[in-house]
Amino acid sequence: MSQRTVERYSHICHNFVKILIISSYMKKGTMDMKKGFLALCIVSLAAFTVACGADVNEGGSTSTDEDDKVIVMGTSADYFPYEFVDTANGDEIVGFDIDIAKQVAENMGYELKIEDMDFGSLLGALNAGRVDFVMAGMTPTEERKENADFSDIYFTAKNLILSKGDAIQSLEDLDGKQVGVQLGSIQEGIAKEQIPGAEIVALNKIPEIIQEIKTGRIDAMVIEDTVAKKYLDQDSELTTFEIVDEEEAGSAAAFRKDDELRDQFNEELNKMIDSGEIEKLAQKWFEQEAAPAE
Ligand code: ARG
Repeated sequence: MSQRTVERYSHICHNFVKILIISSYMKKGTMDMKKGFLALCIVSLAAFTVACGADVNEGGSTSTDEDDKVIVMGTSADYFPYEFVDTANGDEIVGFDIDIAKQVAENMGYELKIEDMDFGSLLGALNAGRVDFVMAGMTPTEERKENADFSDIYFTAKNLILSKGDAIQSLEDLDGKQVGVQLGSIQEGIAKEQIPGAEIVALNKIPEIIQEIKTGRIDAMVIEDTVAKKYLDQDSELTTFEIVDEEEAGSAAAFRKDDELRDQFNEELNKMIDSGEIEKLAQKWFEQEAAPAE
């Protein structure tokens, strides 16, 4: 519930209570005055109900109040440089996806609000109405398309195996080894399919998996090249190889099925693609030196 709605509620409730108190003092009042107050009570009760009803749309694209046009995006801010917490400058979530989302939201006339959660919870939150859309470097897969509609793809990347040292050079070397993946990600599916002999360890956050590899508790992970870059730059002990036979994975924004917000978003997104703005943002975020270690 937004701050605005809370204020609206308390104002209405306050007045309603005042009216009730005054009318109880009116024992001696004339019949007409009593009727007048009764009418006032009914009107404020109706206003209260309307305020409650309006809240159903709260935080969503369907909000009717112009000042209240907030759109809520769900993300998993563990994915540098798509979305991550800029610890050097407070707790703000920044990144490639965030820049795109902010621009698209602004062009659509919304203020963007971001909800951070585990990657595996995002589509559930979307369908439960807790967020209006999802942007998290998410790849539209056939399975996901059963529960969500996706925008066009705005970026593509490849998947790698990342490990420590040079013991692991091929998928066969991972037989009987522990391979980390982010829970609910396509990397989880890729690992199961491409490395059937490995034990898959699914964790919630990418930095957690990296940490497990660094300390030797797991042997390798499946990770996107663009996301791996930062960790490879920071630690010369980490090595990678590309998974051949694996098609490129695209990123797109996810919406509830049949939500017209998807089409509005897509229109703005395509304007940004055509004008070269997305390309500029990709250069800004993907071609820079990695940020210092978290
Ligand atoms: N592209 C992969 C997928 O869709 C991984 C995305 C992970 N995103 C994140 N913000 N952690 O499954």
